[in-house]
Amino acid sequence: MDIKNIKSEFPIFKQKVNGKPLTYLDSANSSQKPKAVIDRISNFYETEFSNVGRSVHTLAVKATNRFEDVRDKVKAYLNAKHREEIIFTKGATEAINLVATAFGEKFINKGDEILTTELEHHSNYVPWHFVRQKKGAVIKFASVNEKGEVDLDEIKKLITNKTKIIAITHISNVTGTIMPIKKIIDMAKEKKIPVLIDGTQGAPHIKLDLQDLDCDFYAISCHKMYGPNGLGILYSKKKWLDEFPPYQGGGGMISEVFKDNVTFASTPTKFEAGTMQTAEVVGFSEAINFIENLGIEKINKHENEILEYGIEKLKRNNSVNIFGDPKERGSVISFTMKGIHPHDIATILDEDGVAIRAGHHCCQILHDKMGISATARASIGVYNTKEDIDILCDSINKCKKVFNI
Ligand code: ALA
Repeated sequence: MDIKNIKSEFPIFKQKVNGKPLTYLDSANSSQKPKAVIDRISNFYETEFSNVGRSVHTLAVKATNRFEDVRDKVKAYLNAKHREEIIFTKGATEAINLVATAFGEKFINKGDEILTTELEHHSNYVPWHFVRQKKGAVIKFASVNEKGEVDLDEIKKLITNKTKIIAITHISNVTGTIMPIKKIIDMAKEKKIPVLIDGTQGAPHIKLDLQDLDCDFYAISCHKMYGPNGLGILYSKKKWLDEFPPYQGGGGMISEVFKDNVTFASTPTKFEAGTMQTAEVVGFSEAINFIENLGIEKINKHENEILEYGIEKLKRNNSVNIFGDPKERGSVISFTMKGIHPHDIATILDEDGVAIRAGHHCCQILHDKMGISATARASIGVYNTKEDIDILCDSINKCKKVFNI
């Protein structure tokens, strides 16, 4: 892949940070946006904008068609069976909250068990905590081993006849662990247990075929897939959406409204209350084009080359301790340095124009398990190069000088 040419598609890389070229290593947090996505959003506002699903004037009909065309495009990209299984949300957090709220309300009762892992991001734990509080459910955590992996046996041994749902990440946003989700889903299917996958770190890097994967729910952050902010996708098998109560009430999601009763639209509209983020949805279609034009397998191969280069280089720095050493790994490297707080590492790197994340990365349970409160995290996107890793490592060495270690 011609990374130099790909990088030129991202206007942000013309920016300098503290007088230095931007070395962006925070794509697991949110990815940068190609000009095609930015231009499509501007063009939509300039030439096609209207609200969707409401008016019958020409602009409104065209905008509604554009919006629904993207739903069909996402269905095809994910290989979902029905277009009604694609719900647009504010983000992956709202997608998971929708499932936890609706599934919790309808199918979870006191003493029922929700099975998750110690790897989870807060967006795939806190919603289930609410279900625990409201319905008296029990949350079970499959343990993470010292490599940052969750063994299949760990999951298997925690499944009981009270397990009502399994909610797990596809890829850890801290250790990079790629979970054996197909095996977990197949195991759960034998016991008729539905599975939700937090796909925020999976979808940007791995080709998805959701009919083959056969999970019940898959949550996506479009802003991590070179797409616009404020947009997520919930894939859900239609059978669940037909049974779920609506998640939010308002315009669009109703069928008839009376003083003493309300009936609802069918899925997907039933779960898309209020005015939707139409421009972002239209812009996301260009993010899918960007990924498909390059080929997600090629993107992933390139990212893994940069990842491996970074891991090898950081391992040779005896002041750096990398967290997680999973056999199957996604493109994040979380580390600490002796005697320097991760926030100080990130601050010094920022002086060199290097953007990483520092803290608990919304995974406090995992950091507690690892016996630390914070890590520094470099995460890789399609635009990163080995030179970015060299700049990262040089700046890390500068931290050693600043802190005299
Ligand atoms: N989920 C995003 C991260 O891991 C915010 O940084």
